Amino acid sequence: MAASGDPKHRKDATRIAHTGRPAEDGPVNPPIERASTFVYANSGTLYGKGRRYGRMGVTVHDALGETLSAIQGAARTLITSSGLSACVAPFRACAQPGSHVLVTDSIYGPTRDFASRFLGKERNVEVEFYDPRIGAGIADLIREETALIALESPGSLTFEVQDVPAITAAARARGVKTMIDDTWSAGLLSKPIDLGVDMACQALTKYVSGGSDVFGGAICCADEKTAAQIEGVIRISGESVSPDSAALALRGLRSLAARLKWHGEAGLKVAQFLEGRPEIVRLIHPALPSHPDHEIWKRDFNGTAGLFGAILKPASDEAVNAFIDALELFGCGFSWGGFESLAIHCDPQIQRTAVPWTAEGPLVRFQIGLEDPDDLITDLEQGIRKLKSS
Ligand SMILES: Cc1ncc(COP(=O)(O)O)c(C=O)c1O
Repeated sequence: MAASGDPKHRKDATRIAHTGRPAEDGPVNPPIERASTFVYANSGTLYGKGRRYGRMGVTVHDALGETLSAIQGAARTLITSSGLSACVAPFRACAQPGSHVLVTDSIYGPTRDFASRFLGKERNVEVEFYDPRIGAGIADLIREETALIALESPGSLTFEVQDVPAITAAARARGVKTMIDDTWSAGLLSKPIDLGVDMACQALTKYVSGGSDVFGGAICCADEKTAAQIEGVIRISGESVSPDSAALALRGLRSLAARLKWHGEAGLKVAQFLEGRPEIVRLIHPALPSHPDHEIWKRDFNGTAGLFGAILKPASDEAVNAFIDALELFGCGFSWGGFESLAIHCDPQIQRTAVPWTAEGPLVRFQIGLEDPDDLITDLEQGIRKLKSS
């Protein structure tokens, strides 16, 4: 069929359905080539421009990367074996011994550990954590040696929404690169590259794959020079993703727009129910007007995900655990972005050094899956009774 309309003007859901597909007649999906070895009839071709070795990726990796680039406006996207490996790659590419990096205090814990334990202790990189709500004030922390500013918005435990354009403007004015962990938005609800970010990283493990059955990461790079720099560090350490994992991520990506809409709408309905409950002090959901960064979220996001927090009235650990354990439709698990709802008590995970985390009571994080939100609300109603009675 002939193409209709200028692809540049198509909406994300259409781009997702129509990018990274085979050009020729035949299957709608790219092949899953399980190949380490590529053979050629002559050595001139072997050293030419074609594929040389499967570790560097095959057709399905290219299709996944192209589709993510199309929705993020990236020059090129690199695929990695996990979300964590995607998030640490910009540090590995930018931070040299003697340099300084600025990291949001709300960053995902294992990324924080990589920065402070590996870069800080073994690589002689100065790692400084900053207040996620610093905005343009980041300019005062930038030094001659600053090599990277790391953002995560919203924070995946505490949900601060960062003023990304203000931070990237200050970084660009001083020639400092920026990366963001954009997993909450799945590359769809916000466009970090348009907001000035150099490297938009995400765990494909979460919303993109959507099946809670595969690991993957992506680094969407704003320009080719940055992509080549990232490619250098991921290739040198043998980073590799199986074609099967890439195909699972691509399959999930095809339905991302529809699923994320459900996660977001169902999540908001559940959050609004919780917000009205006397046992809850406040919700931490960027799409609720009560969230302190709601105006920034409205400016920089075009929708909401289904991951948010709730601060309970002061309660013992036993009472919080009794509440979570009583839930029948919410598993107690660390991940999110899948089809199944989850609830976890977050306080044991929160690490802060720039600004202390303070809350009126325990923080519980909810991942709203693809169940009917009315059933989830019924389940929460009975769970809350256990919170009160313990
Ligand atoms: C915000 C965020 N970034 C990155 C990751 C890491 O992803 P992966 O588990 O694929 O390494 C996670 C995982 O929970 C996450 O929540």
